[in-house]
Amino acid sequence: MDAPSETERSFRIDLAGTHDLDALAALEAVVFDPPWSPGQLAAALEAPPPGADAGPLTLVIRAGDALAGYALFQRVLDEAELLRLAIGPEHRRRGLGARLLEVGLARLAELGVVRCHLEVAASNQPAIGLYELFGFVPSGLRRGYYPDGDDALLMQRAAPPPGRHES
Ligand SMILES: CC(C)(COP(=O)(O)OP(=O)(O)OC[C@H]1O[C@@H](n2cnc3c(N)ncnc32)[C@H](O)[C@@H]1OP(=O)(O)O)[C@@H](O)C(=O)NCCC(=O)NCCS
Repeated sequence: MDAPSETERSFRIDLAGTHDLDALAALEAVVFDPPWSPGQLAAALEAPPPGADAGPLTLVIRAGDALAGYALFQRVLDEAELLRLAIGPEHRRRGLGARLLEVGLARLAELGVVRCHLEVAASNQPAIGLYELFGFVPSGLRRGYYPDGDDALLMQRAAPPPGRHES
């Protein structure tokens, strides 16, 4: 068996809970402008009842007790949208974003999701590079969508057919 990677040894992925709200809000404020409000984040932490066909899926990746990053999806029937993905600046380029995305997409596939959508600033090469690694392809462009004039690139990914490994 392969030795565990540094990521597997030092980091842990969990479903986010309400106790993560303050840490999520703090990271959100560091990474995004404008950040989501605590109210928006709290809604993303409301776990849907078992068997629900829609609702948020929010995963966090922890380094010890500290929150290193999070991924926030919204699922509706067999489709989902990645609304937020963030890794704290001090934890980047160590595979954590990829790990979160891998675990999130696998969880969504278990829930029956066959297509995932996202929107990303066209200038955000780090994120676009990561999404391409997971098979996301461009599906549209909203010119001048962001307040700074940047375009929004729309991307989507069809889940691999059953029996094939995610990513
Ligand atoms: C995008 C983001 C989540 C990537 O997280 P990360 O943990 O640093 O990414 P990983 O280490 O898992 O990188 C996986 C791959 O993505 C690509 N990538 C990630 N960061 C990159 C960068 N700065 N430049 C170029 N490619 C990059 C690479 O292909 C990388 O593989 P490699 O390291 O083997 O070359 C992180 O940079 C971030 O939080 N950015 C700010 C928030 C944001 O833009 N979120 C997405 C839009 S909502």
